[in-house]
Amino acid sequence: MYYSDEVVEEVRAGNDIVDVIGSYVKLQKKGANYMGLCPFHGEKTPSFSVSGSRQMYHCFGCGVGGNVFTFLMEYENFTFPEAIRQLAERAGIKLPEEEATPEAKKRADRRMRLFEINKEAAKFYYVRLKGDIGKAAYAYFKKRGLSDEIITRFGLGYSDKSGRELYRYLKSQGYEDEILRDSGLFTFDEKKGVYDKFWNRAMFPIMDGNSKVIGFGGRVMGDGEPKYLNSPETMIFDKSRNLYALNYARQSRKSYFLLCEGYMDVISLHQAGFTNAVASLGTAFTGLQANLIARYVKEVYITYDSDGAGQKAALRAIPILRAAGLSAKVVDMKPYKDPDEFIQALGAEEYEKRVQTARNSFYFEIDVLRSEFDFSDPEQKTNFFRETAKKLLQFSDELERRTYTEAVAKEYQIGFDLLERLVNQYGSAAITGEEQKESVYKERKKQKPEAGYYTSQKLLLTWITTEPVLFEKVKDIVTAEDFTDEFYYEVAKEVFEQYEKEGRVTPARILNHYETKEEQAKAAELFQTTLLGELSEAQKAKAFAETVRKVKQNGIEMRMGRAAETGDLEAMQRAVTEQASLGRTLAKAGL
Ligand code: UTP
Ligand code: MN
Repeated sequence: MYYSDEVVEEVRAGNDIVDVIGSYVKLQKKGANYMGLCPFHGEKTPSFSVSGSRQMYHCFGCGVGGNVFTFLMEYENFTFPEAIRQLAERAGIKLPEEEATPEAKKRADRRMRLFEINKEAAKFYYVRLKGDIGKAAYAYFKKRGLSDEIITRFGLGYSDKSGRELYRYLKSQGYEDEILRDSGLFTFDEKKGVYDKFWNRAMFPIMDGNSKVIGFGGRVMGDGEPKYLNSPETMIFDKSRNLYALNYARQSRKSYFLLCEGYMDVISLHQAGFTNAVASLGTAFTGLQANLIARYVKEVYITYDSDGAGQKAALRAIPILRAAGLSAKVVDMKPYKDPDEFIQALGAEEYEKRVQTARNSFYFEIDVLRSEFDFSDPEQKTNFFRETAKKLLQFSDELERRTYTEAVAKEYQIGFDLLERLVNQYGSAAITGEEQKESVYKERKKQKPEAGYYTSQKLLLTWITTEPVLFEKVKDIVTAEDFTDEFYYEVAKEVFEQYEKEGRVTPARILNHYETKEEQAKAAELFQTTLLGELSEAQKAKAFAETVRKVKQNGIEMRMGRAAETGDLEAMQRAVTEQASLGRTLAKAGL
């Protein structure tokens, strides 16, 4: 789908980048910009900057950047049209009717058919559960304490023993083998033919955030292996990007989610009134799922199994949650195995108490760490404190780090001063490591001879787009032609044109012209500089003059070189004149 420049710009202008990115990443105001942990690379100290005035973002750590469209393309893995559509919806802007490419149409059609098939299958399984064939499965759910209401709410079902019925049914509904194959619900075997993947299982439809069925989990009746069988990933079923019961949890209006291991845990919790429970889909918890959660709440209570495997899974999930800006707590359900069993045994009120007294994830980690060391051995005890000190370093906020250090010192009876000294010791070791890395990087940069010119060009673009006064100063001196890199030239041309026509410039709009993420990031980078805020007025004026001179000088040299190459004498003459009068021109403009 092609959208006109006007439409693209309307959608962009209708979505404030700080709001949009703020719904994915925890941002903190720092001067004129907002800073946060970059969602595109792992980091502990924020180097991801979002500018409200420029309507762009940029990461000083990994170099990504762009406008609000780029962000959604990077983050959600959207195509450009998908990003436009999402943001248009967000801003309540009606897009012109789609004129999709045949390919896009086909894709959209396939997705739609897969949604239909999954929905049909869910209905089919549900009807079976309620009929004669499903008696045993229905009794099983009842035995596990589920009400009719909750069975309906989660659309639970039963896949019968024949192992062919769903296939027959869907064929009778006119679905071709080709699309049925893609649904992941069937096994196509050359000899045995086609049969249902799920048979004689209690069925749990998996829905996306909009309550559309995208796949299934099927539990074996009684004992057997595997206990749960899950749909394979398909065009519409991505296990790492969805959460069981998110469609309900997102409407729960609670300020936190309960993160479970299993489908039955989620359903039990919802039945007991905890409608904010979600679970991953038979695979380990992912960063994408954490980001998904972070759109709705800021806090997650992990309520995994109490056994060793559950504890390990919790330890794995905690840093993932933190990286998404979520704070995590761990619910203790001992002596029961999981939330389902806990609630069956002690009820909702007791569970609520456990939620209220859930352990802060940092203490949970330290507790687990503690259990790995034998304190009667001085060496092990020392090692425990060393490891603890390292862990305390994850708190970049000094006050926070101090508070935790104090608490840990108290709980494990070690002198606060000693522990703090250990923390600082590891801290400075870590910083030195960082500095070294940085200087190597600077060294490499220096070796690129032309880099200085490009930096000046970039700086100049940033300055004239942030401060119209500065543009006024140079508008008769610098031209787009002074930007010697083709890419910079294009961007500069756009900047000058916008100023001419509208008297101001919207850098984020310039990015609309670039289709690929790489180009958008590159363009965005042109407008980024941190120098500005840290200079005094006099220093700034000097630096600005210097920058203009460099850009101009480099531009003239390039034009001379080109004229010499092509033997264009007229152009050569112009460049020479320009060169001769450069000093005067700059002085006249007070530069
Ligand atoms: P559990 O084995 O803890 O199951 O697996 P559960 O939820 O307590 O199940 P019930 O109470 O016996 O019915 C937790 C989750 O791990 C996934 C499923 O998503 C399950 O809900 N799992 C487990 C599988 O995908 N396959 C398996 O074979 C087992
Ligand atoms: Mn269970």
